[in-house]
Amino acid sequence: MSKITLKTLQDKKQAGEKIAVLTAYDASFAVAADSAGVEVLLVGDSLGMVMQGRDSTLPVTLEEMIYHTRCVRAGAKEALVVADLPFMTYPDPAHALESAAALMRAGAHAVKLEGGAWLADTVRRLAHNGIPVCGHVGLLPQSVNLVGGYRVQGRSAEQAHEMLNSAFALQQAGALMLVVECVPATLGEELSRALDIPVIGIGAGPDTDGQVLVLQDMLGITPGRAPKFSRNFLAGNPEGVQGAISAYVGAVKDGSFPAPEHCF
Ligand code: KIV
Ligand code: NA
Repeated sequence: MSKITLKTLQDKKQAGEKIAVLTAYDASFAVAADSAGVEVLLVGDSLGMVMQGRDSTLPVTLEEMIYHTRCVRAGAKEALVVADLPFMTYPDPAHALESAAALMRAGAHAVKLEGGAWLADTVRRLAHNGIPVCGHVGLLPQSVNLVGGYRVQGRSAEQAHEMLNSAFALQQAGALMLVVECVPATLGEELSRALDIPVIGIGAGPDTDGQVLVLQDMLGITPGRAPKFSRNFLAGNPEGVQGAISAYVGAVKDGSFPAPEHCF
């Protein structure tokens, strides 16, 4: 494998090769995932939960994201590093640019932000300044208090239609990748077919261009109940963590993950 770029990911979509994405928060796991063939390391603001033990992503600060981005980048040889813009660091294009620049200086190759068509101007501003953007639609954890919980999105025809429009608006504005979280498998497939850019699903069915999981979820060490859309790849794996991550990559590539029981 040579260095993964957004162009590489675009080519994989075109070729019908599934893209394996995993969250990472430190250098050790970044090395493990990178060497297992994970193409994108996502420094997710899910670190609020899995690193900090908070009950949402809202308390995560830009400074904390910068620290973890630096750690992950240090362990990434070939994988593309994408860092989340945390809660309230992109309320308008000017603030977004400042926040995103800080993540890029920390070593991110791209940044991710949560939301729909209303972010088009922000995405355009970042792209115009050389900052690749990954969108994030469906369940938006930073908006959990607005939505009233972590629940499947886009179930109604109207919601699905609005999500497709949002995804198009983000792509049109220059987004080069899109994460879609917790939607019916049919909508995950529709988004992936409709868009030119790679669509990476989490709880979005088997027919997206790639999959992403939270590292702790796929190792089965998340406190409490594991999310329905995740699978424990460590359980019973004789090669431990490295084997679990390789098994995840293999299952994403051959389409055996996600299985029907992981889908909505
Ligand atoms: O923060 C995160 O881990 C994420 C993924 C769930 C997509 O945004
Ligand atoms: Na996130």
